[in-house]
Formats: sequence, structure tokens, C-alpha cells
Amino acid sequence: MAKLATKTNKLISQETIAQILSRIDIIDIVGGFVKLKKRGANYLGLCPFHNEKSPSFTVSPVKEIYKCFGCGRSGNTISFLMEHEKYSYVETLRWLANRYHIEIEETEASPEAKLQQQVAESLFIINNFAQQYFSDVLFNQEEGQNIGLSYLKERGFREDIIKKFQLGYCLEQRDAFAKAALAKQYNADYLQKTGLVVMRDERLLDNYRGRVIFPVQNQTGKIIGFGARIIRSNDKAPKYINTPENEIYVKSKILYGSYFARQAIDKKDECLLVEGYTDVVSLHQAGIENVVASGGTSLTQDQLRLIKKYTNNLTIIYDGDSAGVKAALRGLDMALEEGLNVKLVLIPGKEDPDSYVNKIGAAAFQEFIAANKKDFILFQLEVSLKEAGTDSTKKATVVNQVAETIAKMNKVEDFTKQQDYIQQCSQILGIEEAGLHTLVNKFIREKISKNEQKAAQKPEEKKPQAAGRTAETADLSDEAFNILFQDELQERAIVRVLLTFGAKAWDEQKTIADYIFEDEMDEDMFKNKKVAEVLKIYKDKYLSGQQLSVTDFAYSSDNDIVKLVIEATNHPYELSVRWNDEDRAHTVNKHIWKLSYEDFKKEVLSPDEASGSIYSRQTDDNYRADVDDVITYLKLKKIKRLILLNEEDIKNPTASMDEIKHYQEVHMHLKKMQIELGRKKGMAFYPF
Ligand code: UTP
Ligand code: MN
Repeated sequence: MAKLATKTNKLISQETIAQILSRIDIIDIVGGFVKLKKRGANYLGLCPFHNEKSPSFTVSPVKEIYKCFGCGRSGNTISFLMEHEKYSYVETLRWLANRYHIEIEETEASPEAKLQQQVAESLFIINNFAQQYFSDVLFNQEEGQNIGLSYLKERGFREDIIKKFQLGYCLEQRDAFAKAALAKQYNADYLQKTGLVVMRDERLLDNYRGRVIFPVQNQTGKIIGFGARIIRSNDKAPKYINTPENEIYVKSKILYGSYFARQAIDKKDECLLVEGYTDVVSLHQAGIENVVASGGTSLTQDQLRLIKKYTNNLTIIYDGDSAGVKAALRGLDMALEEGLNVKLVLIPGKEDPDSYVNKIGAAAFQEFIAANKKDFILFQLEVSLKEAGTDSTKKATVVNQVAETIAKMNKVEDFTKQQDYIQQCSQILGIEEAGLHTLVNKFIREKISKNEQKAAQKPEEKKPQAAGRTAETADLSDEAFNILFQDELQERAIVRVLLTFGAKAWDEQKTIADYIFEDEMDEDMFKNKKVAEVLKIYKDKYLSGQQLSVTDFAYSSDNDIVKLVIEATNHPYELSVRWNDEDRAHTVNKHIWKLSYEDFKKEVLSPDEASGSIYSRQTDDNYRADVDDVITYLKLKKIKRLILLNEEDIKNPTASMDEIKHYQEVHMHLKKMQIELGRKKGMAFYPF
């Protein structure tokens, strides 16, 4: 124990981590798992994360990243090892250190972390003792054999499986286990923390009396807790008693059976999810080993992430009428957000997976699963459609629900999947695909603005970040900042119009891209730095005679860029302000982009300059109006920034009367521009 404790009390030092990171050679490491061939600047191989015949797994030694164009997986050397070898971050570091013969320097953990670690270690030790004790009772004591073991055997569990899962039995006596544990000098507080005993009248009593014990193993096989099942049914007592939450038993992170299932899940590239302990054990006995249990509650994000470490394919096997299906349905949206493919198999009648596999046998069960796997989204749709019948109001609700569900798929790699679902669901519903598309987009928009509101409410995120924001905006009031924060959608819109209409004509001479890039936009204007980056990449290529499209960006190694471009172009965000398209003449100085605040102060007061480049615009096609709306919005935003800066100057206590007068004139001009631009657009108010 002492040895273990010293190891876990220490942390890898920052210096060692830096040393390891500096030594990483992605071609060397990834090449150890994947056969790579050089192709130009990059290396190419067969993707280790999905089955493929022609190579689409690309490794860039310069960027130190990999990307599979087949399955979309990407990352760096560390994430490759974590994903491919299922290592934790620390395990990955240790593996790399070993590989490069780097000596690991460890630093002391904080006192709290140490204490927590000590408690955890103690709980593990007690649990380990308890498991051995209960198994010994089950196999070697008369009551254990007669009651516990015979119960398990009656239910059809084989001895090898009982041993594999380390099942046990707790005697009917008041404190048989407590006595054994105290005799081993285990600490009474820790004993209570494990839930194995309870304190009554200053005596420790056994908590699982007369119950069959299912130890719960974590992913590495260590026992973190127990489920204790009653044998003689009794209305007053709960069917299972579970370990209370403690340092090592955190219910939301537990998937029962994951230790025994991990290899099979990996191999089958599928995880089966059932409700209970006995379902897991029975399916194992039937040779179906890629199975875990959630304990009948809805899946948590942590549990889904655990599954995702091994596979993207989740198959939920529940009994048809169980509350568990409803519980699982509640987890569905989250599963989709995690990018899992969710299938559902319903077990017929009053059976559960445990009783059903015992009834029909292993082979028939496997066949049943394979033949009855339903896509979860389509299943949900069919069930609710049936329930709605001919009631058109109910049917409308169903359409809304399915659109909302589809909108939850938000991972870049889910994009094609999302399109497929829109197509399939619109067919089942008998509605126009385009209509469902619009509805899905609406939900995506709502989700984004909800997230933004949430983010805006967080005080630490409300403040401008030091880097990336210039001094001129640093003192904005919270209100002003919140308003600017709403800009995300509009910022994406510039990416959308550029990538979808860039090559189209603005007028006889210019393309839309020409029009957008005619003047320098100032990059600081974009809160979303990725928007500025996309514009810059586009512009650089554009100036060298190349016209980029969505697909050029879709395979960028920068996932944030991929995401931005795909989201912006496929879910056309409407402007939050509906412009009036009637009058298209603009009187705002078109060169506003170019102006610094200082320039503006000088130039705006010279009337010739200010009105020098009034322009008007053709009004034939819709897309021009669309582009112009986007640009106008950004211009208004720029004006607003100038107004705010000018206000600072006006308030400056050291300003002379003349200066103040000058600033006030600047203010008047800016206001006039703002009003004119807005009026021409038919706005009754400004978005900021
Ligand atoms: P079930 O009632 O379906 O039990 O609960 P089971 O696992 O099929 O057990 P058998 O086959 O009747 O012996 C499913 C799961 O819900 C949790 C347990 O994890 C159980 O395995 N549960 C159920 C509890 O935690 N407490 C309870 O009282 C009941
Ligand atoms: Mn059962």
C-alpha cells in the first residue's frame, strides 16, 4: 500500500511535461501504429479508427496533427495515443516518457489532493477486502451456499461467471462483516463511507444482510462499490441497496461492466447498453461481452463520454414497456450531441435481456438483436406518429420534436448524418424536405442564441478578454458589451455570403468577393477570431487568383474553422434585424473600413470627403440584398464603435473647450451616418 500511495500522491512536473512535448515526433509515434507512406509534405495511411480499403488518414509532420478524411477524426500525437490506446492523459505522458527515455520528475500533490487520495486508497482497500469476504461466504459457508449460491444457480448463472464478476453473499447476521472488518483494524469512518456498514446505537451493523453482492468495478477493475440484491422479496426493503456517493463511487460516472466489456466494445465497435446488473452478467454468460449497464437511470454526459472512448455506436437494449426506455430517451439528445449513433432494441413481452437470453438461448438472442435494431431517431418518430394518429396539432408537435432532435447533432462529422436524417424523416412524415430543413435550422439558431445568452450571463466571460480586444473596447459598459456579444450570428453571415456568393456578380465589373474585399475590413471588429481568419485565408487565396469554396475549408486541419464554415454555410442564420429592401441607395461613406478613429476625426469634418463616395446598387437578385444586409450590419457596428470611442474623448476631463466642441461635431456626424444608413435600410431602431 505504501508504495502505491507514494506513486499516486505525486504529479508529473511541468518541466517533464514540457520536455516530453518537445520530443514528440508525430510520424514516429503514429507511424508505430499505422503504416504511413510519404505523400508530398504529408504522410498517408489506412485509418486505424475506421475500416477502409483506400487510405484517407493523413498525418502532417509540420502541423503535428493527423486527420482522417474518411471518418473525420483528427488530433495531435497525445490525442492519438489517448484514442488509439485508450490511455488517460497521464498514462500517455508516462508512455511517451518511457519511449523517449525521459526521466519523470514528480512534484508533490497539494495537501487536499493527498488527503483525498489517501481516503480513496483506503476505500479501495476496504472494498477489496469486502469483495473477497463476501465471495468466500458465498462459496465456502453453509448459509452462503444454501441461500446465496443456490439463488444464483437457480437463476442460471454458471460458477465461472459468478467468479468472474466476483459475486458474493452477505450473511443474515447483524454484524458478521463489520466484525471481520474491525478485526482487520479498518477505520470505522471509512467503513461507513463505503456503505458496507451503518452505525446504530454506537455499533457498526452490516448493511447488506441476506443479500447477493454485485461488486462494481471501475474501468481498470478496481472495486469502487457494490449493488446488493435482496433474495426474499420484501415490500418494505428496496430491491437493491447501492453504495452511497463517496470519493471513489460517483454514480454519474459509472457504467457497470465496463471493465469486462472494454475490449469487446473496441473489437465489435459497438456498445450494448442494458439496465441492470443481472442483464450484464447474463449476456456475458451468453458470450455477448460488449455490454454495460446504466442502472436504469438516464445516461449522463460522463457515461456517454466513457462509451465514446471506445466506440461511436451505442445500442440500447431495454424491455419494451419499461420506464427505462423513457429514461434512455431522455439521454438520447445528449448522446446525439456527443456524436454517438444510437440504435434501440426492444425486448418483447415482460422479459428483460437477462430473462430473455435465458429463455431463447445465446444464438437466438444474438439473432434477435441483429434483426431488431432500430435507428433511435426514426423509432422515436414512428412511435410518436402512431400516437398522434390523424390529429394534425399532435402531428405538428411531432414534426417539431424530430426537428429539435436532429438539430442536436452538432459535431462536424455529423453533418452528413444530419442531412440524411432530414431526408429520411421528411419522407416518413410526408412533408417537404426543405421545410424540415428550415425547421431544423430554426432550432439550431435557438440553441446558439441560448448558449450565447448563457455565456453572456457568466460574469467572467462577460468581460472583454485582455488579448484580442483592443484598449478602445476595454472600458465598454456591460450593457454595450452584451449588445456587441449578439453579433456572433451576423459575423457568421459574412462567412456565409462570401463562401456561397463570392464568385457571383455584384455588378458588371465586380464579383461579390470583389465587393466585400474592396476595402480593408478591420479584423478587430470580429469578436469571433475564426471569422476574421476565414476571411483572411479566403482573401489571400483570392488575391492569388484562387476562389475558395466551402469544401476547401471543410478539410481544414483547424476544427474550429471547419465547424464555423460548415455551420455558417449550411444553417443560414437569418439576420436578427429584418431590413427593408426598398431603398438601396447608401449615403454612408463607403471607405469607413479604412478609417482609423484618428482619420475619421479629421475626415468626417470635411464635407467633400464625407459625401464623396455615395454609391448605389443594382437591385435584381436577392443575393445582392443579402450581401448588402450583412455588410451594412458590419458598417453600423463600426460606426457604433467610433461613437463609443468618441464618447470617451468627450468625457475626458483634460479636454479643452475647443476639443470638446470638435468631439461633439464628430459625434453629430457619426449619429447622422448611423441614422441615414439605418433609415435607408428601413430600420426603426439600431441593433446596437
Ligand atoms: P431491475 O429492477 O430491472 O433489476 O433494475 P434487475 O437488474 O433486472 O435485477 P433482477 O433481474 O430483477 O434480479 C435495473 C437496475 O436498476 C437498479 C439496479 O442497478 C438494477 O440492476 N436498481 C433497481 C436499483 O438501484 N435499486 C432498486 O431498488 C432497483
Ligand atoms: Mn432482471
